[in-house]
Amino acid sequence: MTPECVRMARCVWTFLVMLCMTPQITSASQSTKTVYPRLRLSHKELWDLNRTWVFQTGEGHLQHYSVLLDETRERLIIGGKDVLYSLNLDRITAPHKEIRWASSEEQVGNCLMQGREKPECANFIKLVQQYNSTHLLACGTGAFNPVCAYIRVGHGSEKEREFSLESGHIESGRGRCPFHPSSPSASTMYRGELFVGLYTDYWENDAAVYRLANNSFIRTEVGDRQQLNEPKFVGSAVIPDNDDPADDKLYFFFTERVANMDGGNKAVYTRVGRVCANDQGGQRMLVNRWSSFLKTRLICSVAGPNGIDTHFDELEDVFVLRKKDDRNPEVFGLFSTTSAVFKGYAVCMYSMEDIRAAFNGPFAHREKPDHHWSVYEGRVPFPRPGSCASKINGGQFSSSKEYPDEALRFARSHPLMFQAVQPVHRRPILLDTEGGRRLTQLVVDRVEAEDGHYNVLFIGTDNSLVLKVITIYNKEANTVEEVLLEELQVFKVPVPITEMIISTKRQQLYVGSELGVTQIHVHQCGLYGSACADCCLARDPYCAWDGFTCSRYYPAGHFTKRRFRRQDVRHGNAIQQCNGLQLNEEQRISEQLVYGVENNSTLLECRPRSLQASVTWYIQRGLDMEEVKSDERLIQTPHGLLLLRVSKGDAGVYVCQSTEHGFLQTVVHVTLEVLDEDKVEGILHKGETVEGDSQPRTSPCPFPLLPSTSSSSKLWYKDVMQLIGYSNFQRVEQYCEKVWCVSDRKRKKLKGTAPKWRYAQGAEQRGRARAPRHTRGQ
Ligand SMILES: *[C@@H]1O[C@H](CO)[C@@H](O)[C@H](O)[C@H]1NC(C)=O
Ligand SMILES: *[C@@H]1O[C@H](CO)[C@@H](O)[C@H](O)[C@H]1NC(C)=O
Ligand SMILES: *[C@@H]1O[C@H](CO)[C@@H](O)[C@H](O)[C@H]1NC(C)=O
Ligand SMILES: *[C@@H]1O[C@H](CO)[C@@H](O)[C@H](O)[C@H]1NC(C)=O
Ligand SMILES: *[C@@H]1O[C@H](CO)[C@@H](O)[C@H](O)[C@H]1NC(C)=O
Repeated sequence: MTPECVRMARCVWTFLVMLCMTPQITSASQSTKTVYPRLRLSHKELWDLNRTWVFQTGEGHLQHYSVLLDETRERLIIGGKDVLYSLNLDRITAPHKEIRWASSEEQVGNCLMQGREKPECANFIKLVQQYNSTHLLACGTGAFNPVCAYIRVGHGSEKEREFSLESGHIESGRGRCPFHPSSPSASTMYRGELFVGLYTDYWENDAAVYRLANNSFIRTEVGDRQQLNEPKFVGSAVIPDNDDPADDKLYFFFTERVANMDGGNKAVYTRVGRVCANDQGGQRMLVNRWSSFLKTRLICSVAGPNGIDTHFDELEDVFVLRKKDDRNPEVFGLFSTTSAVFKGYAVCMYSMEDIRAAFNGPFAHREKPDHHWSVYEGRVPFPRPGSCASKINGGQFSSSKEYPDEALRFARSHPLMFQAVQPVHRRPILLDTEGGRRLTQLVVDRVEAEDGHYNVLFIGTDNSLVLKVITIYNKEANTVEEVLLEELQVFKVPVPITEMIISTKRQQLYVGSELGVTQIHVHQCGLYGSACADCCLARDPYCAWDGFTCSRYYPAGHFTKRRFRRQDVRHGNAIQQCNGLQLNEEQRISEQLVYGVENNSTLLECRPRSLQASVTWYIQRGLDMEEVKSDERLIQTPHGLLLLRVSKGDAGVYVCQSTEHGFLQTVVHVTLEVLDEDKVEGILHKGETVEGDSQPRTSPCPFPLLPSTSSSSKLWYKDVMQLIGYSNFQRVEQYCEKVWCVSDRKRKKLKGTAPKWRYAQGAEQRGRARAPRHTRGQ
């Protein structure tokens, strides 16, 4: 050990000890209680792993935008501000096509005259839908004068991709696109007809659910607050009821205000509403109005300790997970609550069976607006409101125009169902009460694993993170286990994620923010480690151990060659799965040598790959292993064991073991050698003489003086300081460098002039001081 390094170590440790003595350390040890992701990857790490690509554009083009996944043509269509992009789905950074579609000068002029700001007077493309086999429909705010146009994209089979605006055919976008860029809307294209929920006017007074086709339209009643009351539209989907297309229904998800007794608007509820896709409205009444409009409440709540439930009533995002049986997708809602006692987010899952049951159940009824809602107990007319003109009603009606007035009148006065829809398991499948971040987006992928199907949730946050989570329901205990598999930072800087789309075919996620669109692979099994235990403990349904490494899992029959698959998503039971395979793992235990100075402090580093593993330290006493207990001299930190005042008796071999799901793994053996203080003083003294002779130093500091578990260039003590909440580590580094080391610049200069052998020697000394990790058996 060189004198420089001893001094450097002491310098840094003096700082660390000072810091560690402060109460900050308690908060660090408490934070281990929070749920860590098993893997946390920064933007740079994702980048270096070739797992991500980012499409970036000029300033401000990606505000209030829309996204369309076009698998047929293998394109991702983005409608931005005054622009449309067509990106390559395989690699969104590949050369793209774009269409400029700005508001005209006249439109901008009118917009400014209405008192709007210049940045609002752009054409924000809020709607992009597949229109027919050759064209997309795109609608924009057109400087507060909505416009729609058709985009020629050509047939899916054509190699040369067309992407051009039919500029001779611009239509009014009223009823299809809102006036205001940030106005919420949701749309679905179905058999050439556009279904859209939006505010249709400049002042945002008229909220409606529209269907537009050819020159006809159907909508909700104007100004009917029973139907829609200040709604915020979040999503929509057409879901068939049975094999008869005449029974296909459009479901839309929104929040609205519910009036309380005195007519004031109090709470916000989340609703699921629905209409028949083939609704033609009535003949004499309800002309061009839905005759099948119904809605009910979606509940997402947790039981409180005092019997009062906490309701998550604000729908943030909704995802309809399609399955083989297209009549029964699963519906996932991401909710927030703004309750005074409790702030947080929840994900609830709903089955179509429960949603249909609510619509087939009793209607809600109240005599007067200031009365309570009760079950409607009178006679329900035929055909039952909410049913479609199909064989369901005995084939008596070929269109809703033939419905009797009595049925239409009842439909008009009873849009609300009495029963709310409860989530599956009657509880959220995910709860996030960690303050400080908002959850904004949700997509779900259904993955087949060895022990069943799993819904993998991808949740976007307001600080550039995508959380990849599975939730496992335990029937016996009626509990839900959340497994946070990965936390991915998809943008370089924190920014709210506003769009998220998944291509299950390509296993890619496309994540949008105002900074751009990121493409990211949904799994990278190799990152969990190559050992059987690492792979099993990961519990990632996408991944299994194949006998050599952790790789993508394909269900039986897919690749019959690979019979040897180990995976246990439900329990992560590596002991059972990897029995007899542990021998390999023995070889991976790293060996480290660390020097401590008597009466001073040192860190024995141990960082298992998984952030979810718990760590136990043992000291070897002869043949026995004795567990190391924390006391006032010994602190267990997430980075390792911190010995605050090393004594001679501390010398020995320390063993760090990680436990995850009952699976024990030895991560590292650390041999601690304790140096005599006198001896160190001696070395230090000698060191000063060398300095006095102004000899160039052979040990270029600061180098990691203790072994670092990662190859990252970041110095280990920075980690520790960050960990204990000390942000000003730059100052410490500068200080230490000034006092004990030549600066980086000087060192580079020295490198050029110093004779080679000196460096060889320096490297050797450095090597010893760093006590490089080496692997047993290699
Ligand atoms: C990423 O891709 C580059 C170039 O294609 C390649 O050189 C590099 O090894 C890749 N990195 C990883 C971690 O696969
Ligand atoms: C699709 O719609 C566009 C715009 O109305 C029209 O010009 C085009 O001919 C249609 N294509 C087909 C194949 O019907
Ligand atoms: C729209 O027009 C097309 C062709 O003219 C027709 O086939 C279709 O049924 C019409 N749609 C509606 C909803 O009237
Ligand atoms: C640790 O070493 C530093 C530097 O030599 C010294 O100033 C400090 O007093 C020592 N700490 C203890 C607890 O002995
Ligand atoms: C270490 O500290 C203890 C108590 O402060 C003292 O008694 C002892 O002499 C010190 N040892 C050395 C080698 O300085």
